[in-house]
Amino acid sequence: MTARLRAMTYADLPEVMTIERRLFPEDAWSERMFRQELGAPGRYYLVVESDGRVVGYAGLMAAGDQSDVQTIAVLPEEQGKGYGRSLLEELLAEALRRGAYETFLEVRADNPRAQELYRRRGFVRVGVRPGYYNGHDALVMAYNARNHPTTAPDAEAQGAGPRGAEARGDSDEGGDGRGR
Ligand SMILES: CC(C)(COP(=O)(O)OP(=O)(O)OC[C@H]1O[C@@H](n2cnc3c(N)ncnc32)[C@H](O)[C@@H]1OP(=O)(O)O)[C@@H](O)C(=O)NCCC(=O)NCCS
Repeated sequence: MTARLRAMTYADLPEVMTIERRLFPEDAWSERMFRQELGAPGRYYLVVESDGRVVGYAGLMAAGDQSDVQTIAVLPEEQGKGYGRSLLEELLAEALRRGAYETFLEVRADNPRAQELYRRRGFVRVGVRPGYYNGHDALVMAYNARNHPTTAPDAEAQGAGPRGAEARGDSDEGGDGRGR
């Protein structure tokens, strides 16, 4: 079995929508929203393709020195194989290539699995948005590449220290209200 990451195209949207509706039955994005995202500035959308079919996807919005993980999803029967981690890794690599050192995301407070994925990759909790998802609370999490020397080779030169995400406090900043 071969799996690879590649850019999402409009032709992927039927498969993406099938996964989207399965994983987010209460608040699935519409196909129109995905189309808008694919055409919007600063976006970076990927799919995981395994044996010719889309089994996961993720998207990033980058602007200036900040970015947001817009979405990340892997088919239930394909979870636990490292695809989520690979998708997140590539989003963060792209954020860095674009100079977006800080990355934010919202995640449902009752989704420990996704939180663990983010926590292990260096995201820290910086805020809570009560009722953000149809009445369910969202945690806001942040990642600062400058605090992770392996992903920010220029970190020392730029005076990296224990600042950034951890220093933001419970600011509830970040995101554009569309991420999940
Ligand atoms: C969150 C999600 C994208 C992770 O994708 P995945 O392909 O299963 O993740 P991976 O196999 O790469 O695992 C990454 C991490 O997830 C966590 N994880 C994976 N399987 C897990 C399990 N059975 N129980 C708890 N945590 C688990 C681990 O922290 C793992 O880290 P590790 O590789 O260091 O062990 C996937 O579970 C998903 O699509 N969930 C539904 C949609 C969703 O919640 N999206 C996130 C919205 S914010």
